[in-house]
Amino acid sequence: MTLARLDHALETGALTLPDGARIVFLEPSPDADLGSLSGLDLTVQQNFKPAFDLFEAMGLPVTTDAAGPADIVHVTLPRSRELARGLLAKAEAVAAGGLVIVDGAKTDGIDATLKFAKDKVTIEGQTSKAHGKIFWFTSGTAFEDCALPDPAPVASGWFTQPGVFSADGPDAGSEALIAALPKLIKGRGADLGGGWGFLTKHLLDLPGVTHIDLVEADQRALNCARLNLTDDRVALHWADAATWGVAGSLDWVVMNPPFHTSRTPDSSLGQNFIRSAARLLKPKGTLVMVANRHLPYETTLATSFAQLQELEGDTRFKVLQADQPRSSDKPGRARRR
Ligand SMILES: C[S@@+](CC[C@H](N)C(=O)[O-])C[C@H]1O[C@@H](n2cnc3c(N)ncnc32)[C@H](O)[C@@H]1O
Repeated sequence: MTLARLDHALETGALTLPDGARIVFLEPSPDADLGSLSGLDLTVQQNFKPAFDLFEAMGLPVTTDAAGPADIVHVTLPRSRELARGLLAKAEAVAAGGLVIVDGAKTDGIDATLKFAKDKVTIEGQTSKAHGKIFWFTSGTAFEDCALPDPAPVASGWFTQPGVFSADGPDAGSEALIAALPKLIKGRGADLGGGWGFLTKHLLDLPGVTHIDLVEADQRALNCARLNLTDDRVALHWADAATWGVAGSLDWVVMNPPFHTSRTPDSSLGQNFIRSAARLLKPKGTLVMVANRHLPYETTLATSFAQLQELEGDTRFKVLQADQPRSSDKPGRARRR
């Protein structure tokens, strides 16, 4: 997604943004072309580390918790309904009497959000473009009761928060991975894309595990992990797993890698995680991962590791073990964040 809907609303004159206005973008897509908005005082709020880094590299002020007052707050609608409503509450708090612009795809529920908003505020304008809608209203306190709840235990006892992966409780793929986990895993390792900590918590039960780096890009998920994991063998990192860490430093990596960008399936995410695991592992290191059966990871695994076997599987998931990373995956230089 670019800012096609905002651009369209501005180009058609449906919406105008006064020169010099202070505008806060709440969690825009990483490919949003904010550079096209000249003459405005921009701030970006980002919770997802790779996107945070990207906007920062563009020279924009980026924060994980925007503060007001702003003249205008632009909300990019996320997939989760509760998170979307939480961002509307945040937008009103930051705009404090200014304009709130809500921008989203049909597949992310913009129509339902517009309907919800119409019951609470007067919609001052709206346009449709790029399989979605953008609408705006003057902020007040209408969404005060929609604030994103703090992390709290779900039925299974885990702390999660709306909007994080598998917010209702453990993911079935991760449960399959735990059931098949080789008990011989020992030493220092990492849980890449560790979410709110389900895999790490189970890895701590293995007697030979001495240290776990949980690497997660979603700061809200990491805040939940902090509540689920109190063992001092765990270090939490808000980082992009594709670039994090020191090459050749780990005995093992365990992961249930991401496979979606918003709603779009994207196997390149998991493939990047596999290459990163190979880079991070010592020459005799082991990767154990779970994936949906249909995801095409075997070629990347065979290129990155000398040995590959399937430990467990059914029609939905495959649990794969890869050993002996090939040295070509180690650039010899890496950074720790
Ligand atoms: C399939 S979920 C697995 C979560 C957790 N390990 C579990 O078992 O429930 C993948 C996780 O990777 C995270 N993620 C996505 N892209 C990432 C990146 N570039 N670096 C680190 N984490 C990422 C997501 O936020 C999500 O929490």
